[in-house]
Amino acid sequence: MTASSKDVEEHWAGGHPVYLGANVLPMLARWIEFEAPPTQCYVLGDSTTLRNCLPELLAFVPHLQHAEPIEITPGEASKSIEVCNAIWGHLSDREAERGALLVNLGGGVVSDLGGFIAGTYKRGIRHVNVPTSLMGMVDASIGGKTGIDAAGIKNLVGLFRDPLGVYVHVPFLRTLGKRELLNGVAEMIKHGLVRDADHYHAVREAPLHDIGALAALIHRSVAIKCAVVNDDPHEHGARKLLNFGHTIGHALEAHSWESQHRGLLHGEAVAVGMVCEGWLSWRQGLLDRGSLDVLEAHLLGLYKGYAFNDDDHHRLVELMRNDKKNADGGFRFTLLRNIGQAVVDVPVSAAQVSEALDHYRLLVRHHAAHHDPEA
Ligand SMILES: NC(=O)c1ccc[n+]([C@@H]2O[C@H](COP(=O)([O-])OP(=O)(O)OC[C@H]3O[C@@H](n4cnc5c(N)ncnc54)[C@H](O)[C@@H]3O)[C@@H](O)[C@H]2O)c1
Ligand SMILES: [Zn+2]
Repeated sequence: MTASSKDVEEHWAGGHPVYLGANVLPMLARWIEFEAPPTQCYVLGDSTTLRNCLPELLAFVPHLQHAEPIEITPGEASKSIEVCNAIWGHLSDREAERGALLVNLGGGVVSDLGGFIAGTYKRGIRHVNVPTSLMGMVDASIGGKTGIDAAGIKNLVGLFRDPLGVYVHVPFLRTLGKRELLNGVAEMIKHGLVRDADHYHAVREAPLHDIGALAALIHRSVAIKCAVVNDDPHEHGARKLLNFGHTIGHALEAHSWESQHRGLLHGEAVAVGMVCEGWLSWRQGLLDRGSLDVLEAHLLGLYKGYAFNDDDHHRLVELMRNDKKNADGGFRFTLLRNIGQAVVDVPVSAAQVSEALDHYRLLVRHHAAHHDPEA
């Protein structure tokens, strides 16, 4: 970490810097004034982030006042080829050139989509990410992975495309709802679990509604994400650490959007995934029982239980097989050796996955019986 200007903390994530602190927006303003003509700046956001965060961005970065905002509908459905087509057309109609700059102001949907647009429009224009959701700040905006959903599969099409910078302005979180906040907290918990036990315990004990208290923890999570990306920008090895909770989590997320189930947010699915994969870590003789108990009580206390039954196991395993991360046929998990330490590529059988799902359902029932007075 190097301090580049007063009150700005700088980290490096593979091919791009990430800036944090009280002065990141003035810093962005200085950079943009120097780098990009106002007529060639475009701000991409969803209707909510443009309403809640654009006025503050413009107050700090007046250079963007003439940039016409490109507005998408909030939600995952905007990560589509149809929306890309509309934005490519929009940029072309306004004669955006190779020297144009796209400012992605929003959560992970905006940075994934905007990064993909920036990487593809006229073979590539520049972009910066200004994350506004907690998920965006600690995870999605960092590391250069961009993409959209296609053929019914999340993130099927995309590219590695580094932003020129990521500017994390924590006060944007003031308007973020509680459910979305907890969604991002799941990734912060994961950062601690795979890399930093002190961070895990600090997140576990933090008053999560207090943005001020959260700020220091966000800085730490960003530092961890950056360090892991630095070790392995293109996800050949070390970056797999960040997959803890995600092998089962992705399947649960996809499953929850099928049929009559309620849709889980990504972080909510990862929280369930971390319970299941924590148990697998114990089952494989890696994690001790005491640590597993702490993890389970924590996650079940923070996130609502996800209801599914025996018949769903087959579908969940099938969804896991479709996940590109398991292309070799067997399952390879990132598991915990300890709180704060993970191991990648641990082989796990489908039967063990099924056992982990059974264990989760049992836990949820047990938790409800002890914590819900009506049960
Ligand atoms: N590229 C990566 O490395 C990576 C990593 C993690 C997640 N992702 C992607 O990120 C997406 C999820 O990100 P997300 O959870 O930020 O979703 P999102 O972008 O849909 O944002 C969630 C919701 O919060 C709202 N919101 C955002 N900022 C707000 C603010 N300051 N005030 C009020 N409302 C605000 C949005 O309008 C939206 O309704 C998924 O598509 C996922 O695949 C990508
Ligand atoms: Zn994730």
